[in-house]
Amino acid sequence: MHHFAYRGGVLHAEDASLEAIAKAVGSPFYCYSEATLRRHVRVFKQAFAGLDALVAFSVKANPNLAVIRILASEGAGADVVSGGELKRARAAGVGPDMIVFSGVGKTREEMALALAEGIYQFNVESAPELEALNEVAVSKGARAAIAFRINPDVRAGGHDKISTGKAADKFGVAWGRARELYARAAALPGIDVRGVDVHIGSQISELAPFEAAFTRVADLIAALRAEGHAIERLDLGGGLGISYGDGAEAPHPDEYAALIRRIAAPLGVRLIFEPGRMIAGNAGVLVTRVLYDKPGEDRRFLIVDAGMNDLIRPALYDSFHKFIPVVEPDPAAPEAVYDIVGPVCESSDVFAKARRTPVMRAGELGAFMTAGAYGASQASQYNSRPLIPEVLVNGARWAIIRRRPTFEEMVAGEETPDWLVV
Ligand code: LLP
Repeated sequence: MHHFAYRGGVLHAEDASLEAIAKAVGSPFYCYSEATLRRHVRVFKQAFAGLDALVAFSVKANPNLAVIRILASEGAGADVVSGGELKRARAAGVGPDMIVFSGVGKTREEMALALAEGIYQFNVESAPELEALNEVAVSKGARAAIAFRINPDVRAGGHDKISTGKAADKFGVAWGRARELYARAAALPGIDVRGVDVHIGSQISELAPFEAAFTRVADLIAALRAEGHAIERLDLGGGLGISYGDGAEAPHPDEYAALIRRIAAPLGVRLIFEPGRMIAGNAGVLVTRVLYDKPGEDRRFLIVDAGMNDLIRPALYDSFHKFIPVVEPDPAAPEAVYDIVGPVCESSDVFAKARRTPVMRAGELGAFMTAGAYGASQASQYNSRPLIPEVLVNGARWAIIRRRPTFEEMVAGEETPDWLVV
């Protein structure tokens, strides 16, 4: 459920007209609905009511400080994968005891920062990383609370590029090597073994892969306990899919929770979740303006002012994003079949191929739906296109939560070496 709907013939985010926002901020821009963000985190938390659970928003999905602040005010923590994300979470008011640090390539500097902040847990992904973390912790006179991220060798996820839990993936430690790594960790003075972690992929639209992975880690917990490890936390990662409006549906958080209750409740552990897309995906849209309706040899191109640098998901994963006009079309309005493309000089700068939509004219606004997760966060300035603004709506109020940089800001970090200055 989200709060984007036509009202009086114009697409609104909550009570704010996207047309009016476009007039004020220009296009393209991202627009987020605060009520939708709050609703999603509540629905997710509610699904686990009665269980001891930490919901740590996966910051990579949408790292805007205002977004993290909203979620923090709902009692969410943060799943971070870099020093930058850790600093964002702290700057947005997330307590250190609500932060888990994931990722295959944490640097020693990042480990030191996270130890100094006193974060809740490191999800360790390899034997050498364990040794590095131990050394950093010992040098700081600290102990790092850890879980190992287990690779359960399960295939899951909406696309090969976002599946992470197979043996061939770079993520986690091999299922079969886990016990020897736990034994090693228990012997290290800078390491405090607390839990087990698993994250198998993203945009997972069936429960079966979760069930397979979670059953494996539940068995592992029993084996680890039998060997004397006090396993008190189980981090089940993120990955729950959402609906992108193309007919493929995803399980409701309640169904996902029922599965987890069945498998994890008997373990008597504190649960940790790292949802990203499920919280932010349907809470955001990308508003863009039609530049040209270009007739091609065998197709018709709708050229819009947003590009793959603003929303790379279709180019990278062939993802579907629904596209609708901001001004509500008459049900009898003529339709056309377009390739909806951006201005970037790459053949992959395509948002949708052969998409049937109401005929649109130059100057009209459209919205790519379900763009709140991995949209702005994966944007770049390719083709020297400045990052686009992000707008937050709350009822009828709205505010720019990241403004469009000026050209001067875009090049501010660049220097001309003295030998090039004549
Ligand atoms: N935890 C870990 C360790 C992760 O790597 C991720 C996502 C999450 C949690 C959150 O997963 P979610 O609940 O959002 O599925 N850019 C891709 C998705 C990449 C996901 C990366 N890791 C996309 O746009 O589809």
